[in-house]
Amino acid sequence: MREVCVIGVGMNKWGELWGKSIRDIFVESALLAIKDAGVDKIDSMYVGCMTSGLFVGQEHLASLLADYLGKVPIPSTRVESACASGGLAVRCGFIEVASGMSDVVLVGGVEKMTDVSGDGATYALATAADQEYEVFHGATFPGLYALMAKRHMHEFGTTRDMLSAVAVKNHDNGSKNPLAQFQSKTTLEGVAKAVMVADPLTLMDCSPITDGAACAILASVDKAKEISKNPLVKILGVGNATDRIALHSRKSLTTLNATVEASKRAYEMAGKSPKDIDFAEVHDCFTIAEIMVTEDLGFFEKGKGGHAALEGKTALDGEKPINTSGGLKSKGHPVGATGVGQIAEVVKQLRGEAGERQLKNPKVGLTQNMGGSGGSAVVHILEVM
Ligand code: COA
Repeated sequence: MREVCVIGVGMNKWGELWGKSIRDIFVESALLAIKDAGVDKIDSMYVGCMTSGLFVGQEHLASLLADYLGKVPIPSTRVESACASGGLAVRCGFIEVASGMSDVVLVGGVEKMTDVSGDGATYALATAADQEYEVFHGATFPGLYALMAKRHMHEFGTTRDMLSAVAVKNHDNGSKNPLAQFQSKTTLEGVAKAVMVADPLTLMDCSPITDGAACAILASVDKAKEISKNPLVKILGVGNATDRIALHSRKSLTTLNATVEASKRAYEMAGKSPKDIDFAEVHDCFTIAEIMVTEDLGFFEKGKGGHAALEGKTALDGEKPINTSGGLKSKGHPVGATGVGQIAEVVKQLRGEAGERQLKNPKVGLTQNMGGSGGSAVVHILEVM
């Protein structure tokens, strides 16, 4: 297997982009990534998108976007794994370059979610849960994560303040990210007193509905050395795993097993352990998700993720900074794009280009992207060469 680098990243400003179409935002990000990489030729592309059919009525997306980017007739493939579609696109591009089939591959993700009503968005998102056993009975994603939060509170004594601390920290980080949907700060009280969505999760515990895209250019190390002027960021480890979608089929409501399994694979491939990871972008679709994921990645003992957040261990100046970009909570969550947006943040941090939120000399970063209530997960480990 050949070694693979990320040689360019690009992301548009995320938010409610009513003046732009899905193709506009994808192409904007793709051109930024192509410019950042300094490449003029790409061999193929992968696009992560959860459900452009339901959000904007457009399928056959991979060809449409290759066309609008001016790249036909290159091979272009759309991949879908709910909210982990972007992470999966990166994995597919990695495999293609590592196999020697292509030298330079564009991997991207996109979702245009605000062209439908709130109800329409909730319906479209819920198609990633188990229709027969969950959705037909009224469950939504805020509802499913609320069940996990209640159980985590019951088993480990996780508190309202611990959930709130995740949102406060991510809004703080997002206030330093000019591309984030929300650049406003909040407080523990502000999160707790926001309107209730699904007890115990308030509006401020939830990621928002977002339009956005992100792209990255992957290349073999040899090709990267030839063309790239940027510090090279190598993908050391890739892990992908699945779990039962319906919550009632799982052994535990407080462990996201696809994340545990995906991270095991990524750590093993990279030859790293949780303590070697300097910082991470994780899938905080709800505050409880960040708490559970930081435990399931092995950063904190089970039941201690909430304590870590409240004690500032996951802040920019903490021992394990989490979601320096603002995370899904503040940067936004255009579902198909999120996994690639995480890669963009890790690459920026490793290259020392993260501006006001830059960490001191990080060497190894991790991304964790998951689908729906955790039925799929993709983990990447990256190191600056
Ligand atoms: N965090 C902070 N503020 C938010 C927000 C969020 N998640 N969602 C909306 N807002 C703000 C809006 O900017 C708006 O502010 P304004 O009045 O100052 O303009 C206000 O709250 C109302 O926004 P609106 O779009 O009417 O909210 P809504 O009630 O339709 O939707 C949620 C709120 C939480 C239900 C929606 O964001 C949601 O469903 N989130 C979860 C998404 C999800 O499940 N993703 C998949 C995860 S697996």
